[in-house]
Amino acid sequence: MERLDKLLASQGMLSRREVKELIARGRVTVDGRVEKRPERKVTGEEQITVAGEPLRVQRTLTLMLHKPQGYVSAARDARDKTVLELVPPEYRRKELFPAGRLDKDTTGLMILTDDGALAHEILAPKKHVPKQYRVTIDVPMTEEMVRRFAEGIRLKDGVCRPAELTLEGEHTGVVTLREGRYHQIKRMFGCCGGTVTALHRLSMGALRLDEGLAPGECRPLTEEELLLLRRQELPE
Ligand code: URA
Repeated sequence: MERLDKLLASQGMLSRREVKELIARGRVTVDGRVEKRPERKVTGEEQITVAGEPLRVQRTLTLMLHKPQGYVSAARDARDKTVLELVPPEYRRKELFPAGRLDKDTTGLMILTDDGALAHEILAPKKHVPKQYRVTIDVPMTEEMVRRFAEGIRLKDGVCRPAELTLEGEHTGVVTLREGRYHQIKRMFGCCGGTVTALHRLSMGALRLDEGLAPGECRPLTEEELLLLRRQELPE
């Protein structure tokens, strides 16, 4: 059982303030009756309407986070701040965990979810969901690096799948990976004589990071974005 206002806010369509206003104005009904008590306990099994529209309660929650530097992508850590500490109270759930890892100093798109099946779908090595990163290195990026990435760089733990590198500026490019090894991009550039100075994840599957999210902010994915995330294609 949880509070009615909390359940409504957790669905991601309305802010907590909007939920409070709608409840106060008698625009929320539970099992056919207007409910003006935000603290009313509900299970989510009730027939709930919001402003005349029936609510379909989503049982799982998947958030898009703009990860800032300085946070580790673990559910718990003895020393460092974790990405879960960035989640506002209305989206906090016991089972929420980061689907995939980014290094502490990497920024950009992270998915937090309590949906184990979804996490498996986007992370399973066999699925090859592409992930794009903007990378800056300390030396000029070269066509030779583009060629070596495309061939498959040999690391200590094996040969990487072919990766695309698109040069953007003298020191900057976009890398597309279809696997996820520990510190993979840093090690790949390391093999080519470069050190990564900035790394930012732009997309996972066909889902791009929402430019409107400031570092540290998160929001639930829309139904459409959930489909994009599962696609094994790059964003349009
Ligand atoms: N590759 C890295 O080296 N670090 C990341 O955080 C992601 C990909």
